[in-house]
Amino acid sequence: MDDIVGIVLAAGKGTRMKSARPKVLHPLLGRPMAEYALRAVEEATGRKPVVVIGHQADAVRQGLGPDRAEYVVQDPPLGTGDAVRRTRPYLADRARVVLVTNGDMPLLRAETLRALLAAHAAHDGPITLLTVFADDPRGFGRIVRDEQGRVQAIVEEAHATPEQKAIRELNVGVYAFDADWLWPALERLPLSPKGEYYLTDTVALAVAQGREVRAVPLDDPTEAIGVNTRVHLAEAAAVLQQRIVRRWMLAGVTFIDPRRVYVEDTVTLGQDTVVWPDTYLLGDTHIGPECELGPNTYIRDTQVGARCRVFASVLEQAVVEDEVDIGPYGHLRKGAHLARGVHMGNFGEVKNSYLGPGVKMGHFSYIGDATIEADVNIGAGTITCNYDGERKHPTYIGRGAFIGSDTMLVAPLRIGEGARTGAGAVVTKDVPAYTLAVGVPARVIRRLPRPQSSDET
Ligand code: UD1
Ligand code: MG
Repeated sequence: MDDIVGIVLAAGKGTRMKSARPKVLHPLLGRPMAEYALRAVEEATGRKPVVVIGHQADAVRQGLGPDRAEYVVQDPPLGTGDAVRRTRPYLADRARVVLVTNGDMPLLRAETLRALLAAHAAHDGPITLLTVFADDPRGFGRIVRDEQGRVQAIVEEAHATPEQKAIRELNVGVYAFDADWLWPALERLPLSPKGEYYLTDTVALAVAQGREVRAVPLDDPTEAIGVNTRVHLAEAAAVLQQRIVRRWMLAGVTFIDPRRVYVEDTVTLGQDTVVWPDTYLLGDTHIGPECELGPNTYIRDTQVGARCRVFASVLEQAVVEDEVDIGPYGHLRKGAHLARGVHMGNFGEVKNSYLGPGVKMGHFSYIGDATIEADVNIGAGTITCNYDGERKHPTYIGRGAFIGSDTMLVAPLRIGEGARTGAGAVVTKDVPAYTLAVGVPARVIRRLPRPQSSDET
């Protein structure tokens, strides 16, 4: 028997998001919103959570990942009490304690859930719940206590008297239950005036049996931010962003202005890297140590090595090795791979291409579908003409070649090792190693001296 199992409620419609997308799949700093709740539950319980889905169930299952959790479908949605009841066939024999939380509370931390579970273990009552003290009740249920301060009931806002509405202690919607008490109690829940079964009504049931219900107030009220509207989504994102940036600062990353960056939860950064303002780091992006990023830089799904400098540039689905210098105004697109020590200056674009160690591409160039060996110099304004209107063609440039300014490389094309092209050449035929080609269309006009070490013919 598993000791503690976590249930994440996510069957609700999320009507107030005004969205075709299920609420719990709305992206939040690089992950679907519910992923944060799943992680917290998994960390606190040590096992995969059970997720109750209903509205757009298939989309939610796919969006979170079919193997990410165990899914239980609740259809129609008859309230939070009914949602938990649906998990009984899966959990009845498995769990001693049931932890319940919500898919739309991305800020709740695993530590807080652990504290709730510890508080639950410390008393005999069947329920322990999280509460928050707040001046803005946000439609949350109110915690009713008696004169001795004992929890008596949770009253939903819609059914609260004016005095109850004035209560500042609110139900977060996160609970630990003794499983053998919970399952029969759920069968006895009254139908609410709204036609739903409220999980919150378990509190009054326990109290009526003379059992204790304990409330654990949150230390940090921001953890209780539940997302019902896009306004709440932005509030949650702001808090989460602060946490992410703080985590990296404590790990040795400098942010020149921590409020003016966007760093998704999926991103990693190396020690002594410096991030300038207006830098956006997204998705599967991993930055090495001692880099300098920004200002004005956007990096998505890209690996960057150590000691790189990226200034005012856009990098997408690229790989950048150590000591590479990019920008201002560089654009790496899908499949760009810059080896160690590449220098890529102003207004360069690289797509689906390998630039070998030490390649220099200083100004105004487009390199697409190319393999460029080490130490090649790409003159200002060089273009790989890789597209003939129907198909893409490859370009190969051998080690140490020197491509003159404004060369058009009409692919498919091979430029041999140590070859040179003259300024303004339009190269339509392969250029042999250690020759100079010039003109329009370019023709070889002279052989060049070969170094002793050359092995290319
Ligand atoms: C609920 C609590 C309220 C608490 C608030 C905190 C009840 C009756 N009320 O209210 O005391 O202050 O949460 O956020 O529980 N869900 C299902 N199936 C359903 C209904 C809801 O899975 O049939 C899920 C929703 O997707 C959501 C969670 O349960 O993740 C809470 O439901 P919601 O409708 O938001 O409840 P609230 O009215 O906010
Ligand atoms: Mg809610």
